[in-house]
Amino acid sequence: MPKVKLPKPPVPDALVPRPKRPGTAEKAGPRDVAKETGISAIDWVDERTGMSGAARWLMFRKVPKGTNWFYTLGSATMFAFLSQAVTGVFLAMYYIPDPAGGAYESVRYLTNEVFLGEFVRGMHKWGASVMVILVMLHMARTFFFGAYKYPRELNWIIGVVLLVLTFVMGFTGYLLPFDQKAYWATVVGVNINGTAPIIGPYLNDFIRAGPDFTSTTLARFYSIHMLLVPGALAALIGAHLWLVAKQGTTAPPWMKADKKGDVGEERA
Ligand code: HEM
Repeated sequence: MPKVKLPKPPVPDALVPRPKRPGTAEKAGPRDVAKETGISAIDWVDERTGMSGAARWLMFRKVPKGTNWFYTLGSATMFAFLSQAVTGVFLAMYYIPDPAGGAYESVRYLTNEVFLGEFVRGMHKWGASVMVILVMLHMARTFFFGAYKYPRELNWIIGVVLLVLTFVMGFTGYLLPFDQKAYWATVVGVNINGTAPIIGPYLNDFIRAGPDFTSTTLARFYSIHMLLVPGALAALIGAHLWLVAKQGTTAPPWMKADKKGDVGEERA
């Protein structure tokens, strides 16, 4: 197939500086000074890194005609992930992964005594369900729009791993409050997991840190929940978005090319 070279994305109108007509320039006020300072700071970084080209490549892309609200579900999922990351950092400042009562007590203290603790915990708890719902809706959108087809198969596969990791976050997070519900629900979940063919029992030994629930199990769940999986999610979301920016998004299946070879693009 001949390699088609696409033109560089144009600089959006809003970013093109418009010089004032001679003699009409006003005196710079504090707002202009603040704006100028911001621009100088960005210029300073850009001159040393050349990052503005990459930022423009990522943000000012052409999108196919017919792009609609369903295309925002991926970004909504990413926002839910970021919210989980930020609220999770604050929860980790108080949480103690100690099965002998410390874990339960630290969550009780956070909820009842810490300023805004209940609010941040609530955001993290409900945010988990929001993320699971959004990721499934986003997957349904890419499936029904046929976005998993060539050349986006790899991004679909990365998506499947993201989906599994999102579920792992929910599963490992559920144990952390370490109350009766958390403990027994996890025992049931681990038992179900063990019924998976071949790998089930091995996977269980890994997540339980041995053949039984012991004092190390909680630490293992905590480290998977706040280090291993968020790191993998962040890296894979980066790869996912890089591929989206490189390949562009798929036009809705009901859109037809206007002429042969014309995919009918419009500006974002
Ligand atoms: C943490 C989870 C995920 C995040 C943050 C995420 C983010 C995104 C974003 C921002 C886009 C750009 C277009 C859009 O929003 O529709 C996108 C596209 C895409 N995603 Fe995801 N995604 C996630 C999970 C998934 C899953 C579970 C799948 C499928 C199994 C998937 C498959 C795709 C595909 C195939 C595209 C290309 C869409 C197209 O070309 O129209 N993603 N993703």
